[in-house]
Amino acid sequence: MIAMTDLFRSTRREFVKAGALAMAGARMGLPHPMDAGADALDPSTLTPFVDALPVPRVKRPTGTRAHPEQAGLQIPYYRVAMREVRQKVHRDLPATRMWSFEDSFPGPMMETESGKAMIVEWANELPARHFLPIDHTLHGAERSLPEVRSVVHLHGGRTPAASDGYPEEWVVPGKSQTCFYPAKQDAALLFYHDHTMGINRLNIYAGMQGLFIVRDAQEAALNLPSGKHEVPLLIADRLLRKDGQLVYPVSEHPDRPWVPEVFGNAILVNGKLLPYLDVEPRRYRLRVMNGSNGRFYRLSLSNKNEMHVIGNDQGLLSAPVAVKRVPLAPAERVDIIVDFATMAGTHVKLVSDSFDIMEFRVVAKGTADTTALPGTLRPSLRLDAATAVRTRRLTLDERMDDIQRSMGMVLNNTPWHAPITEKPTLGTTEIWELVNLTDDSHPIHLHLVRLQILDRRRFDAFEFQAKGTLRFTGPVQPPEAHEAGWKDTVRADPGMVTRIIVPFEGYAGRYVWHCHILEHEDNEMMRPYEVLPASHSASTESKKIG
Ligand code: C2O
Ligand code: CU
Ligand code: CU
Repeated sequence: MIAMTDLFRSTRREFVKAGALAMAGARMGLPHPMDAGADALDPSTLTPFVDALPVPRVKRPTGTRAHPEQAGLQIPYYRVAMREVRQKVHRDLPATRMWSFEDSFPGPMMETESGKAMIVEWANELPARHFLPIDHTLHGAERSLPEVRSVVHLHGGRTPAASDGYPEEWVVPGKSQTCFYPAKQDAALLFYHDHTMGINRLNIYAGMQGLFIVRDAQEAALNLPSGKHEVPLLIADRLLRKDGQLVYPVSEHPDRPWVPEVFGNAILVNGKLLPYLDVEPRRYRLRVMNGSNGRFYRLSLSNKNEMHVIGNDQGLLSAPVAVKRVPLAPAERVDIIVDFATMAGTHVKLVSDSFDIMEFRVVAKGTADTTALPGTLRPSLRLDAATAVRTRRLTLDERMDDIQRSMGMVLNNTPWHAPITEKPTLGTTEIWELVNLTDDSHPIHLHLVRLQILDRRRFDAFEFQAKGTLRFTGPVQPPEAHEAGWKDTVRADPGMVTRIIVPFEGYAGRYVWHCHILEHEDNEMMRPYEVLPASHSASTESKKIG
């Protein structure tokens, strides 16, 4: 056994419990596979806050190219290489072997303006062998396939299907995938990451992710903190050995190494363990993204000061929301204004419950703060449930073997490779009812679209399993104020029906939706869906529930 069991405890499960969401009769926590064993790093033995927080540099285009979609225009062209890198995550640890984009983890920041397209060549320059344990029993990771494969997806991007990074459209080392990103969408913090069928959790864990910012004039007019006062924070936990190397845990069953969830002993921020950032006593804009495979966070400041949430996954809220604490599921983003003016001369930590994440060192005096915290951010656009042409009821299910061991999760009891069942029509709005029959909270993500949470409501899962009838046992809970804006990833809590409303805008074509706990996603908690062209007769997709 190792010393820091605390860090292995699932913040996600604590989170669920804290919300009193645990279902009656839920099985107790899963065993925690810890094959880092005696070699596991104990981060409490390291001196905290000795490394400055790195801020990923913004990638510059290498030229321009034409694209048939925007004839006559020269579009900025980027080449981004996936490479093995060695990176110091802490002053006192040897460099960690990772796979990332360009020369460090996270990859470079990509940036564009709304409506300004870009072409990105994602070049696979990875080694020929994987350094993390592949489970060849998973669909899409068979022994007959090359070990090292990659396909990049722009999470939150309104992207034509051909450039969206379909999980089966991977390339091998030496090959590239070239994507066209029109970026016809509002300002938001997006991110790019690997999406390869069957090994996505390993590739991302190895480091294959980076941030992508879309800006627009409306946001620019708000006079929010910018430049060095706008700080991206990609938070991701990893399991590290004493020698600084990554461990990806395996089950005790060599025939089936897959584990249902992974929690690290080290929480990295922009690739550093317990970094610090020197800040001035003024407003900062923190653009936070949860890049963990499975860990949920509840972020707050150690001095319990208030922060203002101004946006989430798909951009600004209608107005700032004052919070002391903000939850963040895997793949969710939150845009926070922290005013350090009241903390001049102090050190304050960003924490998740009792875990330190990083330290802000507020200097006594700084430059004058000319930024604003506007009372309204963008016109509020709550979607009306009545605009939906169809409601789909979709279950989140756990498959168990005969000794109650999790075999993985699925969507609507349907494996990945079954024919497509969800075919919304372009230009229409649907309601998806996510009926969570598992004991876990799942961050559910739909590609292509932005969506809003209508509500969550407790229901009788046993009755639903037995008779198929949906009987609610609690009141309708509207989304919390900080998650009431446009999102692309939504927490579906256990024992609850989470209703989302989704305008299918952008492009027709084949996309995917899935749980963003990467261990779930890689083991079939992912389904294709298809947006049908608007000309497609609505009568063939009759209006019904189910
Ligand atoms: Cu973060 Cu399928 O995406
Ligand atoms: Cu996505
Ligand atoms: Cu899940």
